[in-house]
Amino acid sequence: MIIYKTDEQVELMRKSALLVSKTLSEVAKMLKPGLTTLAIDKLVGEYIRDNNAVPSFLNYHGYPFNSCISVNDVVVHGFPNENELREGDIISVDIGVILNGWHGDHAYTFAVGDPGEAVMQLIRVTKESLYKGIEKAIAGNRIGDIAFAIQEHTEKRHGYGVVRELVGHGLGKSLHEDPQVPNYGKRGSGPKLKEGLVLAIEPMINLGVKDIYTEDDGWTVRTKDGKPSVHFEHDVCVRKNRADVLSDYSPIEAAEKSNPNLHKEQTAVLQ
Ligand code: MF3
Ligand code: CO
Repeated sequence: MIIYKTDEQVELMRKSALLVSKTLSEVAKMLKPGLTTLAIDKLVGEYIRDNNAVPSFLNYHGYPFNSCISVNDVVVHGFPNENELREGDIISVDIGVILNGWHGDHAYTFAVGDPGEAVMQLIRVTKESLYKGIEKAIAGNRIGDIAFAIQEHTEKRHGYGVVRELVGHGLGKSLHEDPQVPNYGKRGSGPKLKEGLVLAIEPMINLGVKDIYTEDDGWTVRTKDGKPSVHFEHDVCVRKNRADVLSDYSPIEAAEKSNPNLHKEQTAVLQ
């Protein structure tokens, strides 16, 4: 069942999404080689609680941390741990909050040092594909239009692997609502988009093959070929002529730009 949000509810969801954006920008400020992903997770939990919200991933189906932190070949749902970040790592940070009863859920991939041009291009193209999907999140279109746009840019144009098993989703009073938002599919297929539908659109794109596996911990998803994977996620509300992006990359990109430990090139993409 698809739940449409009123304008008032969308404004509350914008607050939730923006708290995630602010938390991600705090992460962007602290990233450096030598930092453990557990230290990042600790800051995430504290920052969210200091802002009168709750980290929504913690205990979600038993998930044991505040955030999902996925380094290099980890696609999504990586456990924060005691491993230190190294020069050349890429790190996807995925954060969820509940604020005033409403969920925010979004993610960003950073490059610590220089991972090389092929991986920087994967980061750029994945971020671009998210915006190409968002462009299709307008009333009258269908879920398949979003899916097709993402697949077209990443798989057809650049030959990357589009993860099939994991998808974006509706968002609201629950973290995962209908409909599912795949990152591959046919134009004009799937549920019709109507105003007030809030979606978390989240391309998960592999440098190599699309195949993945889940580790014995039941969560950590890795690429089968061991090559890197990138994940970006925005929360958007379907509107008549232009999707309303509730989350905001600008504070994150500003922090990324001013942090000398992060690779810069990726900020030059279409908005
Ligand atoms: N952003 C992810 C999602 O939407 C993370 C949720 S997994 C969790 O599915 F268990 F950590 F919550
Ligand atoms: Co999500």
